[in-house]
Amino acid sequence: MSSTPIGIHDISFATTSLVLDLGVIATRMGIDPQKYYSGIGQVEMSVPARDEDIVTLAANAALPIVERHGRDRIRTVIVATETGIDQSKAAAVYVHRLLGLGENCRAVEFKQACYSATAALQFAAAMVQRDPQQQVLVIATDVARYDLQSSGEPTQGAGAAAMLVAADPAIIALEPVTGLYTEDIMDFWRPNHRDTALVDGKTSIRAYLHAIEHAWQDAQRQGAPGFEQIDYFCYHQPFTVMAVKAHRHLVKIAAAAASSAQVDAVLEPSLIYNRQVGNSYTASMYIALVSLLDNVAQLDGKRIAFLSYGSGCVAEIFTGVVQPGYASHLRTAAHAAALQGRTAIDDADYLARHAQTQPTDAGAHPAPHETTGHFRYAGLSGNKRLYEATPARSDSAS
Ligand code: COA
Repeated sequence: MSSTPIGIHDISFATTSLVLDLGVIATRMGIDPQKYYSGIGQVEMSVPARDEDIVTLAANAALPIVERHGRDRIRTVIVATETGIDQSKAAAVYVHRLLGLGENCRAVEFKQACYSATAALQFAAAMVQRDPQQQVLVIATDVARYDLQSSGEPTQGAGAAAMLVAADPAIIALEPVTGLYTEDIMDFWRPNHRDTALVDGKTSIRAYLHAIEHAWQDAQRQGAPGFEQIDYFCYHQPFTVMAVKAHRHLVKIAAAAASSAQVDAVLEPSLIYNRQVGNSYTASMYIALVSLLDNVAQLDGKRIAFLSYGSGCVAEIFTGVVQPGYASHLRTAAHAAALQGRTAIDDADYLARHAQTQPTDAGAHPAPHETTGHFRYAGLSGNKRLYEATPARSDSAS
């Protein structure tokens, strides 16, 4: 087995052009906004423009990576999502074209609720181990949608995180031991006939804690680093208080000593972006990682534990070590601009967007140009989804 370190060579995230303050939903529902702001730990949620979806989010997240590192060594692109846009064709194939990747490349989509990006990352690491000259582009991308007036409504959101997996990574070297857990449970799912997810919120919280506990115990049996050897923890964050609940549970089962203040301090940097983006399903844990990297100085040599959970359910826990000099490879200013550049919408606008459904006939349904991103969904025609670079990008692209 090769001893070359393998891991995350570059990471970038993108979100939508629009944002809704959760106080707007609280006011409509007649409840105290503090329930959202502090009870579930969510302040805002990203809302897709009419020409944004998982493909445009994914391509926007990955574009800075391919522009920095080139395309020649990328022979695989994996898009992880639970917001599938087609039952057959992988979203990765559209993304492959938008990014201008070479034709000698495999493109595939992974699905398992909020977990699938972790599977993609592990598969990518194994592929790079087989041939360390190759790089794999892994993109987690999702739009979280629940019914209006449901308890899930304030835990919507949208975002994508793109990672270049390579040998001798500049940012995080993955460690080989992982802990796993799978159980067939109905805590969250989206049947084929629905465009909003179904969730039993309380069951999903219990299932998350149960799965993380069993994955942790498996990781320990497999020889993973113990609690005291880990400096930071990155959790899947369907809402940011879930990470706090999960970490308090982990402290208990690991029989570790940590006060509430210590739990909050170790988690806080990983919660900053998701509080503003909302739930981004598969992307959420990786946006948490970006938030941690962008908001803590001096992480060189620090070990991060990743606690990935996808309803249904699969959990995986693994660790990685931040590489010396990583800070010069971050994209902190671009990430801040993505969050700050969103346009706030009001409740009427949000409700109109939420009510919009996909046409089901074979006619032409162009999408208005709303996005501020580099790529747009141009509409549906003849039952085919159309994607293009935005005119500004087409003009400036060489
Ligand atoms: N000020 C501060 N906190 C308040 C509050 C107020 N005015 N009112 C309520 N809260 C707190 C509650 O005490 C509760 O905290 P606790 O969990 O520590 O007890 C929290 O806010 C949420 O209140 P709750 O009544 O449980 O909310 P809910 O029934 O609306 O459900 C979710 C919350 C997260 C379960 C729901 O949004 C959901 O189903 N989301 C989608 C599923 C999901 O995210 N699952 C997670 C696992 S993947």
